[in-house]
Amino acid sequence: MAHSERRVHRLAVDGVDLAVEETGLGPPVLFIHGFPLDRTIWRHQLDHLGLYRSIAPDLRGMGASGVPADGYTIAQYAVDLARVLDSLGVNQAGICGLSMGGYVALEFARRFRDRVASMVLMDTRAEADSPAAAEARIAMAQRARNEGLAVVTEEMLPKLLAAESLSRDSVVAPLRRMMRATPLAGFLGALQAMRERVDYRGGLAALGPTPTMVVVGAQDAITPPTLARTMSAAIPGAKLVEVDGAGHLVPMEQPETTTQLLRKFWGGVKPGGWD
Ligand code: MLT
Repeated sequence: MAHSERRVHRLAVDGVDLAVEETGLGPPVLFIHGFPLDRTIWRHQLDHLGLYRSIAPDLRGMGASGVPADGYTIAQYAVDLARVLDSLGVNQAGICGLSMGGYVALEFARRFRDRVASMVLMDTRAEADSPAAAEARIAMAQRARNEGLAVVTEEMLPKLLAAESLSRDSVVAPLRRMMRATPLAGFLGALQAMRERVDYRGGLAALGPTPTMVVVGAQDAITPPTLARTMSAAIPGAKLVEVDGAGHLVPMEQPETTTQLLRKFWGGVKPGGWD
């Protein structure tokens, strides 16, 4: 299928300029990337979904967006995205968040429930950080400050990808570039935001009426399939999909499969799901 035309805006929201890419025409869907990444993890989906108005911002402090000194909380990322939708004249959208983007998606649903037409939670979890996970984030922040993001990127890469993806330059090269290019303030801000985030498990049952799909890479070492199964079981009616040949970054590791999954899922959301 032909590539959709890419439109990139800079939108001023809550004291920061966000880079926001749009492609396609149709019911709006909002893509939320993970850490320390940017909107280009959704490249295949943005270029090939076509029948949807795909909206993919770079979160504050990452990608081509502005890097404010503060405001790095999961709640602020969610508010930024509501302001992005306001600026684009979108009331309700399908929400699709990966990993940290999933935390933001769950927070968005908690605050702006009537703006969520449907939900895709990809390679993510509802649990807050354990004390050990919070400690590990503090240690990672220290290493990023002392040794730089090139070093931290090399440590993170093997955990992010399935073994077979690690040998594919078409996956590793853009990922490495994206991670190394993350501004230090945005990297540290996101670590703090994730460390301080609340536990979303209590709100999962209430997501029920919203059509929801949980997607996880079969080799995801960061948010493994066991977590995805538990999360999906807690959301009434949720559909669970485990994707072979993928670790933590399903849309980059299995791009065509991801695009097809989304097309099929959103195709089944009744038109009333989008107001
Ligand atoms: C992400 O991919 O966004 C992060 O790995 C999530 C996390 O560290 O909790």
